[in-house]
Amino acid sequence: QDALRLGVAGLGTVGASVIRLVQEHGKHLAVRCRRPIEIVAVAARDKTRDRGVDLSGYAWYDDALTLAHSNSIDVLVELIGGEDGPAEAAVRAALTSGKHVVTANKALLAKHGMEFAKLAEANGVSLNFEAAIAGGIPIVKTLRESMAGNSVTRVSGILNGTCNYILTRMEREGLSFEECLREAQRLGYAEADPTFDIEGNDTAHKLALLTSLAFGCQTSVDSIYLEGITEITTADIEAADELGYRIKLLGIAQRTDTGIEQRVHPTMVPKSSAIARIDGVLNAVAVEADYLGEVVLVGPGAGGNATASSVVADIADIARGDLMPTMGRPATELEPYTRARM
Ligand code: HSE
Repeated sequence: QDALRLGVAGLGTVGASVIRLVQEHGKHLAVRCRRPIEIVAVAARDKTRDRGVDLSGYAWYDDALTLAHSNSIDVLVELIGGEDGPAEAAVRAALTSGKHVVTANKALLAKHGMEFAKLAEANGVSLNFEAAIAGGIPIVKTLRESMAGNSVTRVSGILNGTCNYILTRMEREGLSFEECLREAQRLGYAEADPTFDIEGNDTAHKLALLTSLAFGCQTSVDSIYLEGITEITTADIEAADELGYRIKLLGIAQRTDTGIEQRVHPTMVPKSSAIARIDGVLNAVAVEADYLGEVVLVGPGAGGNATASSVVADIADIARGDLMPTMGRPATELEPYTRARM
C-alpha cells in the first residue's frame, strides 16, 4: 500500500516526541499497520530553533494553515494547542479538504468538537484525539471501542498531570506551590498558559470530552462546576493528612435522574483509596458501567513521550483504515446535554 503521509503542525514538546517516535519505530509501525507511515512535512513558526530531532527530510511550512491545505499530506497532526487561532483554522481546513486529523488539543475540541466531528463525518475522514485526555492513557479507545456494549453511569478521575504533580510534591517535600509549578513547566507537563492547569480549565476540557464519549451527549464545558487548586496551601494538605486524607483535583461526570452532572474541584480522598496513591504526573480514570462494572486506568497524564504514544496510536488506526466516529457514534446523533440539578 501507499504510505500514509503525515504533516505535523506544532513542534513543541509533544511534536518533537511524535517525530522521534515515528523515526525510531517507523518499521514496526508499518508492519503492525500493513502500511508505511511517513512524516512528509512539518509546520512551526521558528525554523531556526533546535528541537533535538532531525527535521531535514521534511518540507517546512511557516504556518499550519498552508500545510493543512497541502495535497502532499493525508493526515494533519495538530499539536499547536489553543482553542482558537491557528489550530482551529488548520483543523477546519484539513477536515474540509478531506484530510484526517489527529490532535492532542482538548481546549479546541471542548469548544469546537461538535462542529469538527460533523465535518469529519461529512467528509469521510477521522478526527482522532486519544492524546487530548489523560496523555498516554488509552481512555478514548476504552470508551469508544472496548466499552461500546455498555451504558456508562459515572466517569471520574485525576485528569491533569501538572496539578497532581504539584499536589504530590507539596505534600511529600513541603515545597511551595510556585516552586512545584515551575518544575512542572520545566518538565514539559504544563500548558503554554499554566493558568489552564491550575485553575482546573484543562481538567474541565477533558471532562467535557469524556462526558460526551461516555454518555453520548454534546460537549458542554460551561455547564461544569469549576474550582482549581490555586487556593490549596501546604497547611490544607497537612490538615487533610492528619484526618487521614489526601487532596486530589478530580473531574467527575455522572448520570442522575435530572440529567448529567459535571464537576471539577479539589477533593479529600481517604488515604486507603486507590485514587490517593496516584502520584506525580500520573493520571487515573475510573469508569463505571452496567455490564462491565468498574475499570480504572492509570498512567502518565502529560509529557512528550507519553502523549506522543497516544498520538501515534491514532495515526495507526487511520493507517489501518479504521474510520471511527469521533465521539463513538455519529455526531448528528449525540443528544443535547442536559445539566443535572445540583
Ligand atoms: N497540561 C496537561 C497536564 C498536559 O498537565 O495534564 C496533558 O494534557
